[in-house]
Formats: sequence, C-alpha cells, structure tokens
Amino acid sequence: MAKYAIKNVTVIGGGLMGSGIAQVTAQAGQNVTLVEVTAQAGQNVTLVEVNADVLKKTEASIATSLARVAKKLYKDKPSDGEKFIAETRGRIKGSTDPVESVKQADLVVEAIIENIDIKHKLFKDLDAAAPPSTLFASNTSSLSIGEIASVTNRKDRFGGLHFFNPVPVMKLLEVIRTPETSEETYQAFMAWGKSIGKVCITCKDTPGFVVNRLLVPYMAEAVRMYERGDASARDIDTAMKLGAGYPMGPFELNDYVGLDTTNFILEGWHKKMPDNPLFEPLESMKKLVSEGKLGMKSGEGYYKYD
Ligand code: CAA
Ligand code: NAD
Repeated sequence: MAKYAIKNVTVIGGGLMGSGIAQVTAQAGQNVTLVEVTAQAGQNVTLVEVNADVLKKTEASIATSLARVAKKLYKDKPSDGEKFIAETRGRIKGSTDPVESVKQADLVVEAIIENIDIKHKLFKDLDAAAPPSTLFASNTSSLSIGEIASVTNRKDRFGGLHFFNPVPVMKLLEVIRTPETSEETYQAFMAWGKSIGKVCITCKDTPGFVVNRLLVPYMAEAVRMYERGDASARDIDTAMKLGAGYPMGPFELNDYVGLDTTNFILEGWHKKMPDNPLFEPLESMKKLVSEGKLGMKSGEGYYKYD
C-alpha cells in the first residue's frame, strides 16, 4: 500500500495549464478508452483562481475542452458523453481562497504565473495551512523546483509535475525530484501521473527539465533564423512540419505556448547562464511582448488570429 493515497487534489491557477490539469484529474478513471487509467478513479478537484470572474472563464474553457473529449469518446452515444461531462464537471469545485482550499488536500499542484516571488508567497501561505501529509508540486516551465520549495517546511514532500499544453491531449508528465524530494513522494507522484492517464518520465531539477531544455533553444534558433532574414516564419514552419514531421512549426508553437512565456524563460535562463548563446533573448519576441502581442491568447503574435 502506497504511503500517500491521493483522492483530493487542489490546483492553484486556472489559466491555460491549471484548467487542463484540473480537467484531466477530474476525468481520471472515467475515460478508460482514451487513456490507460490504473488507479485512484474519481478524484475530487478544487480549482483556485484570483476572483470569481476568472473562475467563470476557467470553468467555461474546461467545458469547451470536455465537449471535445466527449465528442471523440462517445461519438456513437452522445447521451453517455453528456453524462461524462456532467460527472467530470461535478468533481471540480471552484474556490478563490487558496488557504482554505488546501486544508483537505492530499496533493496541491501550483500552476500560477511564472514568477518566483509570487510563487514563494503562495507556497509560504499554503505550507502553513495544509496538513503535514499534503504533497506539494509546481508546474513551472523554467524555474528551479528546489528554489520554489525552499520557503516551505516540506522539502521532502515537494517536487515538480510538469504538464504540456494542451494538457488534455499531450500524454507526457515530467516528474521532477530535487535532492530533497523523498522516495515516497517521488513514488506517489509517479503513481498519480499514471492514475490520470499520463506517461511519466523523471528528470533532475535542471533548467527546463527534458522537453523545454531542448524545445526552447530550438524555437529560439528558428526566431534567430527569421531575424537574420534567412527564411520567412511561414516557410520555417512549413519546413519543420513537412521536413521533420513536427505537428506545429516553431512560430506556430511559440504563439501557442505564449510569447510572454518563452520570452520569460529565455530572459531568466540568460540571467543565470549569460555565457550560453542558446539562451540569448530575442529582439523580435521582446518587441511583440512589449506590444501585448502574446500569441494566440491575445489574438496576435508572429501570426494574426481571428
Ligand atoms: N482539449 C481537448 N481536446 C483537444 C484540445 C483541448 N484543449 N486541443 C486539441 N484537442 C483535440 C481535438 O479535439 C482533436 O481531436 P480529434 O483528433 O478527435 O479530432 C485533436 O486534439 C487534434 O486537434 P486539432 O484537430 O484541433 O488540431 P491538430 O491536429 O493540429 O492538433 C495539437 C492540435 C494537439 C495542439 C497539435 O498541433 C500539437 O501536438 N502541437 C504541438 C503541441 C506542443 O508541442 N505542446 C508542447 C508545448 S511546450 C509546453 O507545453 C511546455 C512548457 O512548459 C512551455
Ligand atoms: P496563465 O497565465 O494562462 O495562467 C495563470 C493563472 O494563474 C491565471 O489565470 C491567474 O489568474 C492565476 N493566478 C495568478 N496568481 C494566482 C494566485 N496567487 N492564486 C491563484 N491563481 C493565480 O499561465 P499558464 O500558461 O497556465 O502557466 C502557468 C504555469 O505553468 C507557469 O508556471 C508556466 O511556466 C507553466 N507552464 C506553462 C506552459 C504553457 O505552455 N503555457 C506549459 C507548461 C507549464
């Protein structure tokens, strides 16, 4: 019997990532034909946002995504699809009170803005409020898990759970252990990842873990190629889709992830590792971000969206 049984999960932040994490957790155990679910069916989720208006938007985006999943799973039996949506939504409870939301939690997954000071403040408050047995995880793309955990008194019960966008579709979960993450915590994270249908890989607490350490320099090199005038963004995208089999080209992917996110990652890594030319920030990206052109989410990035 595992030391940690995870039944109640609190997700803090209901943006692009947190809404997907809440959704796949609440779905666990129901969509057995979509993913291989082996344990802990029927988890309850508390999803925390900054205010009721944002919470409403989050709930609406979960409903849209669930409809896409249901359409695929239950194309021959729409009434079962309706039931699946209602049951999944019924397992997700919204909250605007992070401290109250962790009092019954077995696991807390943080997916708020990528800012170390704001994450520190949040985790200090959560650490004081949550039971000692509650496991904490961050979904950070680029920050050090050890540094985030440093403000808590549960460094042994803290690790990284790094999901990929769009969470309901991307099958990977990176499980990050710091030197202080206990073996029991690590095992509980691996079992939980499997229970929500993800394929888990393990990585040390290094910048970008596996995927982003490879993907971010690749996307940045594509932008450098475009800034030099070697090829257009559209042609670079076409080249990587048709010549390398990627589902999206690097400019489409930058716009999809959010230019603010990629820019923030590069700036943070450049500050820490100024000698690495792969992490040099990008002029065209900095300009787009300063103009509020953040990619798909704002309607414009390297491309325009209707
Ligand atoms: N919720 C539920 N289902 C969704 C969905 C969502 N948000 N988004 C897409 N889908 C489903 C669609 O319903 C569709 O289902 P069917 O196959 O049954 O029709 C399927 O996924 C494919 O979607 P689309 O037909 O709309 O479009 P597509 O074939 O172009 O695929 C994509 C879309 C899955 C996003 C694909 O383009 C892709 O894999 N892109 C690369 C994404 C990627 O690299 N993500 C990682 C980014 S890095 C990151 O996340 C880490 C970080 O820290 C920054
Ligand atoms: P986002 O901006 O879409 O969502 C963040 C949400 O957190 C917002 O809705 C905001 O209102 C909420 N929030 C901020 N402070 C909060 C607080 N104190 N309490 C509760 N909610 C709060 O960002 P995102 O893209 O979902 O990224 C979230 C985290 O996930 C970041 O650490 C990011 O690096 C990481 N991540 C992002 C991606 C990606 O592709 N965008 C992929 C993997 C990991």
